[in-house]
Amino acid sequence: MPAAAIGRGGAGRPGPSPGARAGWALALLAALLPPAAAAGAPPVSAGAGERLYRLGLLPSGRPLRGEREGGAGVDGPDAACATCHRRSGLGSWEGQTVIPPIIGRYLFRPGARNVEDVNLPHVQGYVPHREPYTDASLARAIREGRDREGRRLGILMPRYRLDAATMASLIAYLKRLTVGPVPGVTSDTLHFATVVTPDADPVARRGMLDVLEQFFADKNGGYRGESPPLRSPRGVMYRVNRKWQLHVWVLSGPPETWERQLLDRLAREPVFAVVSGIGGATWAPVHRFCEHAAVPCLLPNVDLPVVAEQDFYPIYFSKGVLLEAQLVARQLQAGGPALRRVVQVFRKGDVGEGAARALQAQLAATGLEGVARAVGSGPAGPALAAALAGTGAGDAVVLWLRPGDLKALPAPPPGSAVYLSGLMGKLEEAPLPAAWRGIARMTYPFDLPEQRRVRMNFPLGWFSVQHIPVVDERVQTDTYLACVILSETLGHMLDSFVRDYLVERVEAMLSHRLVNGYYPRLGLAPGQRFASKGGYVVHFAQPTGARLLPDTGWVAP
Ligand code: HEC
Repeated sequence: MPAAAIGRGGAGRPGPSPGARAGWALALLAALLPPAAAAGAPPVSAGAGERLYRLGLLPSGRPLRGEREGGAGVDGPDAACATCHRRSGLGSWEGQTVIPPIIGRYLFRPGARNVEDVNLPHVQGYVPHREPYTDASLARAIREGRDREGRRLGILMPRYRLDAATMASLIAYLKRLTVGPVPGVTSDTLHFATVVTPDADPVARRGMLDVLEQFFADKNGGYRGESPPLRSPRGVMYRVNRKWQLHVWVLSGPPETWERQLLDRLAREPVFAVVSGIGGATWAPVHRFCEHAAVPCLLPNVDLPVVAEQDFYPIYFSKGVLLEAQLVARQLQAGGPALRRVVQVFRKGDVGEGAARALQAQLAATGLEGVARAVGSGPAGPALAAALAGTGAGDAVVLWLRPGDLKALPAPPPGSAVYLSGLMGKLEEAPLPAAWRGIARMTYPFDLPEQRRVRMNFPLGWFSVQHIPVVDERVQTDTYLACVILSETLGHMLDSFVRDYLVERVEAMLSHRLVNGYYPRLGLAPGQRFASKGGYVVHFAQPTGARLLPDTGWVAP
């Protein structure tokens, strides 16, 4: 991530630290004074603390180093505070290992003395009733590994030799990290949006909205009005009953205007996160909006997502047709010397064009000749025949086509190998003419129908109970799954409504889920943005019928 890009997130809002022991007037004064003017204090450089925290870079641009007593040290990104305490600063936990929150609101909070003032998100690892840190004792914790009470911090927490100015920038950053009201969260309602692009398939779009609207209605079924904040014995407010409200953001016009439209919608209707959604040929403007506005965008229905895993806020089910291109590339490389060239057929402007480009690049890297052919306008039959002209023995034909085009295919070229995108062709329902069915290999970036049958009882049962017509089983199942994942994650977060924390908790919980609809398993290590990473290559068992046989095991290219 370029250093210039990191200031855009939601965390960078400057302001006095609410928990500081200095009175608010003093804090305000300090915030207003230019940093260097505070008597005797080292200069605080804006952005330096953030770069150190997130990327592990010192103000000099050199990598940060953390030492460990008697053990190996850590450098650069491994030493970055965010690697362990996470981007939100709210820490994390995995099994027995608890990494505490280190935002100023926790560190500088006067513990037991003011139990009523616990308007803090509840996170694992936070121990109330402790002395607050001071700047000096916090610096000691970071340099020497001693906490506020002088207790030695665990071996996992490195020690950092930072000079006074760098330490001051870091502490200033911790004080302003994850503060302020959270957009889209009110005392009785959680606001979410879903995004629909104008080129989305209208049938799938209706199916998706049916699921979302019903899920939200169902969720609110148990709502019994605003409840008073509960206080646990630990003095933490949590589990306020809130309604879920869905905002459907339907975009219009050309893609260049979408990001602006979304920013306007967000300003008018603040939301905590974007859930599901549906796109057509391009999703890039929506992806950019999520990243620039620092809004989590969870699991949309898009077949050609943006691959930018250094971005934080957009999370996808899979790489879609780009994953299929990788699966095809892998098969072609095993194709042996008989393979002369690869002819890809796609519709201009559809997602297959992006997939063909990706595969073309992979072929170039392996020295295989690749030809990309766009299907021309006019009646599908002749246009497809023209795109396939001259193909034959020694060729592999790769079809990035929708069902309408598959139906209209002319006779297959004799002697050539055929691959087809399952995602675009509608998987086992692909209406391939019998002559193609016998020879085609299909990429299948999901679990196979028999293997997912039991898991599918959950979404299908829910659709049936809710009287939701199943018009696009995959899109509707993925939509349902996105809602369930959001709901479960928020349930575990209690009332810690912080956008970065939502993304971090989705990352942490995904790999523990067992029932994932079309996917055999999901998972996101920090820095990964595609939850399902593999697929099969299959062929039809018979010239008619939907039964599939796998050519490969589950492959994660
Ligand atoms: C490799 C993981 C790791 C990294 C990197 C890391 N920490 Fe920690 N940190 C921990 C763990 C684990 C603890 C809890 C130790 C304990 O309680 O014994 C901790 C504790 C702390 C504490 C004490 C919190 C309290 O409530 O007393 C502070 C402050 C802290 N870290 C700040 C930082 C800062 C600032 C950075 C970056 C310069 C950083 N940490 C980098 C793992 C890490």
